[in-house]
Amino acid sequence: MKSEILQNTIQKLFAKDKGILAADESVGSINKRFEALAIDQTVENRLAFRKTLITTPDLHNYISGVIFHDETFRQEIEAGKTFAQYCEEHNIIPGIKVDEGLTDFPNFPDEKITIGIDSLRVRFEEYFNLGARFCKWRVVVDVKVSSDEIIELNLRNLAIYASLAQEAGIVPIIEPEVMYDGDHTIDECREKMSSVLTHLFGDLALYRVDLKNVILKTAMVLSGKKSIVKAENDEIANDTSHILFSTVPENIGGVVFLSGGQTPTESTLNLSKIMQHGPYKFPITYSYSRALQDPVLEAFSKKTDIEMTQKIFIDRLEMNTLALEGKYTLENETGLSSLVSNVTHSQDL
Ligand code: 13P
Repeated sequence: MKSEILQNTIQKLFAKDKGILAADESVGSINKRFEALAIDQTVENRLAFRKTLITTPDLHNYISGVIFHDETFRQEIEAGKTFAQYCEEHNIIPGIKVDEGLTDFPNFPDEKITIGIDSLRVRFEEYFNLGARFCKWRVVVDVKVSSDEIIELNLRNLAIYASLAQEAGIVPIIEPEVMYDGDHTIDECREKMSSVLTHLFGDLALYRVDLKNVILKTAMVLSGKKSIVKAENDEIANDTSHILFSTVPENIGGVVFLSGGQTPTESTLNLSKIMQHGPYKFPITYSYSRALQDPVLEAFSKKTDIEMTQKIFIDRLEMNTLALEGKYTLENETGLSSLVSNVTHSQDL
């Protein structure tokens, strides 16, 4: 029964040509993005921005699911209707970020562990009743800094989280984010990612997680943002597809990409090139936050009228739809959603 609910969710999330919107930034994280664009950091503005995204006409033609943060999940998008209820009515699956963020760990300076496991079983029950059908847990890996010990601990928790999510009938997105930040080379990134994913799938097997009802959320294989040798798009696509073929089991529910701090056009172009290396044995799509939202947020900050703001969003989604088919090139850009200011928005750290 639970397995059927989970499979049904997976099938819908990976509907052809659709992506998953990550709109689950913590309050601190979205406030940082607001601050950079001089938007007041209020609960009303967070609500208004997310409402702008979710009420975009025809969103369901591009987006199969949205990951929300707890704050949004409890807000009403309109009188008497939660975001989750609105999404269900519009053929979009509501999801929830369930990790409680990153924290330091004694004796491992500069490293982070993800917290929130203890209360998870109770929270899952509540989130299921509130309508959540998939969820996300993110751990971070720094290519040069992360130690084997902390990676192991974080990956173990990802497996525990995935078990508890499936028990509750909620599809787990497992996200071991190998970070773009840093000055590592693409080779160093590929090696780290390969080792992390191999270890992760070992843990999932160990804890008897049902792989067909799991979604992997991964970064692309990139040279670090501060690397002096910047990898080319073809190399990125080649290495990323190699990682998918060599480390991801064929029976996984599916794979989604995060954008990780790449610009909207970079992430769309790389996705398109990765798809050209297919077919893959499992469904693949994108689940971007910044690369989808940045152009929209910029319009929002300028108080652009809502119709135009939502048009910008649709334009970005259309580019990514092309990418899923492996058909996107920079010539496809209309200019509507490709230009964003130089503000670099950092993810929760
Ligand atoms: P970005 O696409 O901005 O990396 O965010 C995706 C995400 O869900 C990170 O946890």
